[in-house]
Amino acid sequence: MKNKQTDKLEFNRKDHWEQVYSEKESTEVSWYQQHPERSLDLIKATGRDVSAAIIDIGGGASKLADFILDTGYNNLTVLDISHAAIEHARFRLGDRAEKITWLEQDITEFTSDVTFDIWHDRAVFHFLTDADDQASYVRTMSRALKSGANVIIATFDLNGPEKCSGLDVVRYSPETMSDVLGEAFQLIETSTEKHITPSGASQNFVYCCFTRV
Ligand SMILES: C[S@@+](CC[C@H](N)C(=O)[O-])C[C@H]1O[C@@H](n2cnc3c(N)ncnc32)[C@H](O)[C@@H]1O
Repeated sequence: MKNKQTDKLEFNRKDHWEQVYSEKESTEVSWYQQHPERSLDLIKATGRDVSAAIIDIGGGASKLADFILDTGYNNLTVLDISHAAIEHARFRLGDRAEKITWLEQDITEFTSDVTFDIWHDRAVFHFLTDADDQASYVRTMSRALKSGANVIIATFDLNGPEKCSGLDVVRYSPETMSDVLGEAFQLIETSTEKHITPSGASQNFVYCCFTRV
């Protein structure tokens, strides 16, 4: 029988995501959104001005970056474990890619030299099924945010899929998300969304907005 350590050694997270983005067009992946409206609305609803330091965790090839720039925000960082995903996004954005700070990093190993006003994560945290990885993420997020910063995390909800991209996920309610983030994060607002994948499947998401206390 395999133990957790063996499983960890066999699964290489970076290789997995590089393969995903090298085999599929960015518009074909199940999480693709032509217009990431909810995320954008929640970012705008923070009321922060265009100089707000925003980080999109696991932004991948998402078009959210394009819309954030279109809105006028001028201090955006996109972090993703996958080089291929970042290259997709950079190619699409052309010269505008230079306005963004790109970080090719595993969020569980990330340490930031700067602090952010807005932390956005759609469909990344729920891939962390290991309690140590979840704790690393929360520790990193706590350190990388200014006091009073806004956090927007979207995951599959309790009725959402059990897997994505062939990987197990943890599904959340606002309460369980709040529990895992701990006391440093105060839950402000939640909403649900049915995401329709490019192949027509329906996936239930929950968006949880917190303030870094
Ligand atoms: C399901 S996709 C979501 C992409 C994007 N947030 C969106 O909503 O379209 C998950 C993304 O997270 C990235 N990712 C997965 N695990 C990661 C980790 N530990 N650190 C950083 N990025 C990660 C993947 O490369 C991929 O781009």
